[in-house]
Amino acid sequence: MSRQIIVAITGASGAIYGIRALEILRSLGHETHLIVSAAARHTVAQETGRTAGDIGALASFTYDPADTGASIASGSFPIDGMLVAPCSIKTLSAIANSYTADLIPRAADVCLKEGRPLVLMVRESPLHIGHLRLMTQAAEIGAVICPPIPTFYGHPQTAADIVDASVGRALARLGIDNDAYTKWGEG
Ligand SMILES: Cc1cc2nc3c(=O)[nH]c(=O)nc-3n(C[C@H](O)[C@H](O)[C@H](O)COP(=O)(O)O)c2cc1C
Repeated sequence: MSRQIIVAITGASGAIYGIRALEILRSLGHETHLIVSAAARHTVAQETGRTAGDIGALASFTYDPADTGASIASGSFPIDGMLVAPCSIKTLSAIANSYTADLIPRAADVCLKEGRPLVLMVRESPLHIGHLRLMTQAAEIGAVICPPIPTFYGHPQTAADIVDASVGRALARLGIDNDAYTKWGEG
């Protein structure tokens, strides 16, 4: 069954996580609603050499991150879940505090209030106690904290394998069946 998933790419390192999520969801026939933050436009260009326009072409629908009046800002719009990949500390903080001044934290807050899954691939290191408190706060209101931490039991051969393993697990947590990661016992 085709699902409707919001993918937000924020300005933490690891724009490739959001890009791979879009590619995998597309290959599985799911509908994607993409928001790229202003900061992420820079990391997308710096880390991948691509533009936000290139990334937008991978999505079914794209939104201006400043547009808090977009359809996905309303709980009445049918969405099955949301992935923030990667999730910066700034966006984590906005979500944890329901500070919904922009579309990414607003759409995330809508998922939480409507009881829909929200998966945050938080990326920062090292983490100070304020970051850890924000993650706790977000988890307490229902977000799934899913940092892109590599596993090695699947014997990854390339950086792409490592990226796919993290993205595949995050998508699985959203209820999206996929083969992007090695399940224990299959490797
Ligand atoms: C190259 C680069 C890498 C960055 N990496 C991170 C990171 O890993 N984690 C993070 O929280 N912020 C990181 N930042 C800072 C964020 O881009 C910045 O806090 C920004 O305001 C986040 O805004 P957004 O959440 O609206 O995308 C990075 C910035 C740059 C330019």
